[in-house]
Amino acid sequence: MPKPSIIAIDGPAASGKSTLGFRLAEALGYLFFDTGVMYRAVTWAAILHKADAKDEAVVTALAENVVIDIRPPSAADGRACDVLIDGRDATWEVRKTEVEAFVSIVAAYPGVRKALSAQQRRIGLRGQVVMVGRDIGTVVLPEADLKIYLDASAEVRAKRRYDENIKLGKSADYDAILANVRERDRIDSTRAVAPLTAAEDAIRLDSDSLNAEQVFQKVKALCQ
Ligand code: CDP
Repeated sequence: MPKPSIIAIDGPAASGKSTLGFRLAEALGYLFFDTGVMYRAVTWAAILHKADAKDEAVVTALAENVVIDIRPPSAADGRACDVLIDGRDATWEVRKTEVEAFVSIVAAYPGVRKALSAQQRRIGLRGQVVMVGRDIGTVVLPEADLKIYLDASAEVRAKRRYDENIKLGKSADYDAILANVRERDRIDSTRAVAPLTAAEDAIRLDSDSLNAEQVFQKVKALCQ
């Protein structure tokens, strides 16, 4: 059996998708594409433009016009890649708590999704790609050769995000992170367009009792 060329990894907030996707792409020599970064970039652009995140028309116009670029990391400060918004480095800004407070509202707008998922699909169809998000196996690349749905309880996911923030030297409040994770899950899974859900043909993995290494080994085995 040939190795899967298009690999889709979906799942709720902080379920370990990016960690898994990054390692898998590295092991296979594929492109790693974290689509969440694009929704975060549009949200940060809205904050920079002092736009109201609840103003769908303004945010949609921004999503249609902003130039988001993902490049290899230019600094060894823990980043997996550089995120450029209209040519300016915004790698750490897109990870801010204020972005996480609004990103799911922005990502629910149909026009925003249309603008971003068209770009994701164009890049994904080239193959040799590990694409991570909420709707990759269901909407962006339903023809993916391997689909993984990575889940874990909200408490475990919040603890992981808390540890990640501490490691990055960010201030972290576990209860606030848990509340944000739950709220984003609620908005992401109930929106009208491309809600967060496992594709029928996705392989589900629950990482409550599996560490990052065990999840990686399981998925790597599925690729062979
Ligand atoms: O890293 P984490 O799981 O916390 O979030 P992310 O993957 O960076 O995604 C941030 C937000 O973008 C999500 O909460 C969704 O609202 C949105 N998103 C989406 O709607 N569709 C995608 N394919 C990826 C992200």
